Amino acid sequence: MEKITILVADDVPQTRKDITRLLYFEEDMDVIGEAGDGVEALQKIGDLKPDVILMDINMPQMDGIAATERICELYPTVAVVIISIQGEPEYMKKAMFAGARDYLVKPLSSEEMANSIRNVYRQQKQRTRVSQVYTPPQPPQHETMQYVAEEKPSMMAQPAASSPPQDLMLPQKAITVENKTEAPAAPSAVPAVIPQESHNAGQHDEKPLGMVTTVFCGKGGVGKTTLATNLAVVLSQSGKKKVALIDLDLQFGDIAVMLNLTDGKTICELVREHETFSSEILQNYMLRHFTGIDILPAPVLPQHAEYVNPEHIEAIIKCLKQNYDYIIVDTSPMFHDINLQALDMSEQILLVVTRDIATIKNAKTSLNILDSLNYRERVRLVLNRSDQDLGVDIPDLEKGLEIVVSHQIPGDERTVVSAINKGVPVILSNSSSDIAKSFRRMSERMVSGKRLPVPEKQNKPLINRIFSL
Ligand SMILES: Nc1ncnc2c1ncn2[C@@H]1O[C@H](COP(=O)(O)OP(=O)(O)OP(=O)(O)O)[C@@H](O)[C@H]1O
Ligand SMILES: [Mg+2]
Repeated sequence: MEKITILVADDVPQTRKDITRLLYFEEDMDVIGEAGDGVEALQKIGDLKPDVILMDINMPQMDGIAATERICELYPTVAVVIISIQGEPEYMKKAMFAGARDYLVKPLSSEEMANSIRNVYRQQKQRTRVSQVYTPPQPPQHETMQYVAEEKPSMMAQPAASSPPQDLMLPQKAITVENKTEAPAAPSAVPAVIPQESHNAGQHDEKPLGMVTTVFCGKGGVGKTTLATNLAVVLSQSGKKKVALIDLDLQFGDIAVMLNLTDGKTICELVREHETFSSEILQNYMLRHFTGIDILPAPVLPQHAEYVNPEHIEAIIKCLKQNYDYIIVDTSPMFHDINLQALDMSEQILLVVTRDIATIKNAKTSLNILDSLNYRERVRLVLNRSDQDLGVDIPDLEKGLEIVVSHQIPGDERTVVSAINKGVPVILSNSSSDIAKSFRRMSERMVSGKRLPVPEKQNKPLINRIFSL
């Protein structure tokens, strides 16, 4: 059995012994070394190459926080778990921002410690796999238009990603759309997009393709659907833009409910009833909301999510880009192949966060993964419930996540809940509220934002064999 190798860093020899003894009976773990302070821990990592370091905070020479920071810089594949008697949020925050994967407060049971080690080890393996699988973007070939909000640039440099193994590459699709920005594709059996013959035919040359924005966060309940829905509506109102809203929370999507749409047609029926997609076919499955936006709802039953695969998503989005100015994609809180396909095709990724430690920790992990996929330039941080101080102030949040907040949405329980109950988006049910104003500001910035050429990919990176986190 492959064992998780562990280094214990604590300045008290008895504590190191206790931890080693506690883990002795865990069959899948092996304590391979000890260190009395941060400096010694750093020295030993090079030789011992542990998977996980259990780190005390208060140690001489170099404390656990500083050591964690250095370890994350120098050995990003090693996961640090802090074990401390200090349970105050201030310490947890520091540890999290330093890059610790978990924070355990003493006294703790062997079970608690072993579970934490297994979790961080598993996550670390997954992270490493993602960063090994993706390819860096290709240099620009043609100009396509991308919205760039007028804001400070991201503070974090992009790490280089390694090239994907050939057998992990997505097969190229038989996409027959005339599209200057797409690389020529080899034929395959995946759903094809039929060339458009609708009223928009012939306009492709002048009109840029629709802009895809995916709303994402690795954590549930942060406000993704609220944002996606209101943004879609407000965009459609600004200059009569055509807006499509796709619910890719395939198991528990609630956009149809939020907008009071109960037609019954969903993405599930679309992919089951058609092998090829065209704008006309898609129109039969998109529900028209009274505001003018068209919605492709999630399946009614969670088990029907299985029918939808990443190739469907690719073909659907390609089709919608021909007909709509904006395509807004709502997602489930996971890095699985469906979401990765949407993220891959997005010019803009709105990463939604709130000001609590759990969400921020999650956002940090999400950003790391988005970095390894080379999506960082497309990410805009949206702070939801921005006025609700849940333990982290905004400068700390920006510093910890190494990205500036692009948009702020205030919290407004009454307005939001009443809007959901009525099935009418906030932007319409209470258009003078601060929250509605924030959605309008966001839309204005999207519509009037500077547009820059974006790199075009020659080879699609792997999407469909990536795990869920
Ligand atoms: N700015 C806000 N002020 C007050 N309540 C909000 C705000 N944004 C979202 N909410 C509420 O928070 C809850 C979760 O919002 P929402 O469904 O949009 O999150 P989500 O990220 O899509 O969740 P899930 O991951 O479960 O799909 C909802 O009850 C919503 O009404
Ligand atoms: Mg949602």
